[in-house]
Amino acid sequence: MKVLVTGGAGFIGSHLQDTLVEMGHDVTVFDDLSTGFGKNLNSKAKFFKIDISNQKKMIPIFKKEQFELIFHTAAQIDVRKASDDPYRDAEVNILGTINLLKNAADFNVRKMIFSSTGGAMYGNVEEPANEQKMPDPKSPYGISKYSDEMYLRFFGDEYNVEHTILRYSNVYGPRQSSKGEAGVVAIFINNMTNLKESILYGFGNMVRDYIFVEDVVEANILSMNNGNKCMYNVGTGKKTSVKELFEMIKTYYPEYNIEPTIKDRRPGELTSSVLDGKVLLRDYDKDDYIPIEIGIKKTVDWFKKEIK
Ligand SMILES: NC(=O)c1ccc[n+]([C@@H]2O[C@H](COP(=O)([O-])OP(=O)(O)OC[C@H]3O[C@@H](n4cnc5c(N)ncnc54)[C@H](O)[C@@H]3O)[C@@H](O)[C@H]2O)c1
Repeated sequence: MKVLVTGGAGFIGSHLQDTLVEMGHDVTVFDDLSTGFGKNLNSKAKFFKIDISNQKKMIPIFKKEQFELIFHTAAQIDVRKASDDPYRDAEVNILGTINLLKNAADFNVRKMIFSSTGGAMYGNVEEPANEQKMPDPKSPYGISKYSDEMYLRFFGDEYNVEHTILRYSNVYGPRQSSKGEAGVVAIFINNMTNLKESILYGFGNMVRDYIFVEDVVEANILSMNNGNKCMYNVGTGKKTSVKELFEMIKTYYPEYNIEPTIKDRRPGELTSSVLDGKVLLRDYDKDDYIPIEIGIKKTVDWFKKEIK
């Protein structure tokens, strides 16, 4: 199948790109390399360095390539940046998505599988949030992702572009960048490798639902021929505190004995975020999500090999 992966040089998009190539699909990647890396690109995928907010540049490529499916992972993902510059956030996250949907409608792309967010969508939740929970995005990033979801529905209803929306919890795994603030697993691994001090915000008590990138890729792949007009949470329903996560990773670095600095939550940070991802398991007949202990081990192994 001829597929387009936007953001294919990024963390999640690059894993998706590799799996699609392995499956024998004809893969094209759009990425502006703003947070992604050229080294993540698969040599068997066709690459266009392109900004999805630049519609003029995208149209001739859509015309020529005749994609059947779009995995849309490209986004401005920095919540703080989105608050500082909501205009640019909207340009990439809203207008960029509209551009792709318009091209999908104009050039007969069958479906878009969209990377959305659970954390920024549901806000603070103590118990696992299911898909019935009313979105309550508080940041421009969450607002832009929520708008995208509504545009996906509009293009589905008006132009028959199929879609599946996947709302991820906190994704972790190989290739995640330790720059920025989303990748706390990568940040801790980087600190432990380089004997640097870590900071545990929220006094180490903030909880998140950590989902391994392989589960996220699988959810995308299973959406290729299923789940039209559906929206699924992709999360384990299990909470892990920052402190527990730090201790779990530390077991792989016995030589590391630098005590972390404990600090209060930063403005806008959620105290608790956890998603109920059971509907996806049921509808897609998927066994379960990968337990954090296994995902963390695979991630640490990858980073250790990478450093060598
Ligand atoms: N990582 C998580 O925990 C998480 C959680 C929920 C949702 N998501 C969503 O998953 C998707 C992928 O996230 P990620 O963690 O892989 O981030 P990432 O930053 O590693 O990947 C995003 C990619 O998009 C590219 N990009 C950014 N702006 C672009 C533009 N204007 N034009 C073309 N390419 C552009 C970047 O260069 C990068 O390669 C995003 O849509 C994000 O909102 C991620």
